[in-house]
Amino acid sequence: VWSALSALKTQTDYLIALQRRIGTCRLCEYGVLRDEQGMRAVPGTGSHETPVIFIGEGPGEEEARQGEPFVGRAGQYLTSLLNSINLPRARVYITNIVKCRPPGNETPKPECITACLPYLKAQIALVRPRVIVLLGNTALTAVLGKEQRLQTLRGQARQKSGIIYFVTYHPAAVLRSANTIEPVITRDFETLKALLQRYCPEVFR
Ligand code: URA
Repeated sequence: VWSALSALKTQTDYLIALQRRIGTCRLCEYGVLRDEQGMRAVPGTGSHETPVIFIGEGPGEEEARQGEPFVGRAGQYLTSLLNSINLPRARVYITNIVKCRPPGNETPKPECITACLPYLKAQIALVRPRVIVLLGNTALTAVLGKEQRLQTLRGQARQKSGIIYFVTYHPAAVLRSANTIEPVITRDFETLKALLQRYCPEVFR
């Protein structure tokens, strides 16, 4: 990834070139399927100059149609959670662990996660966020390691290599079991709000 991008200069140039490269990637079966089905890759969206990145699992059908993350039902719920803490979507960067749609919304295969992770690492290196929000188990284990448990870590902040990681449920979990998950994710977003107000208050302005 880096060698192909080295001729470019600004952070935004790099991110746009990276986005283009993701758009034609065929390093795993999801990229091949994307082309066969006339769908789009979903590199990520939002501010390049933000202290906060949100990371989900992988695009659903609507996302793969539009080429934008979190625009389907789970996405609308994420947007409402962001609104509830007065954090406009456009002020943060939003992306996923895998950039092409896993068929039937399957949990992304380990080999596809491995193939796709260098793109996420490059995005993180370019945006240089203060806080990374991991939405759900796939994001948690892909970024912080297989041994991590969502139940233990959710609602808490944890520092690693100068970045603060905050873990909560994936918004789609609320659509599946609202009664149990919704009060918890709502509380987690309040905790997240306090964390952002402390470490990067500029994101609200
Ligand atoms: N679920 C995700 O994990 N990501 C999206 O972009 C949409 C739904």
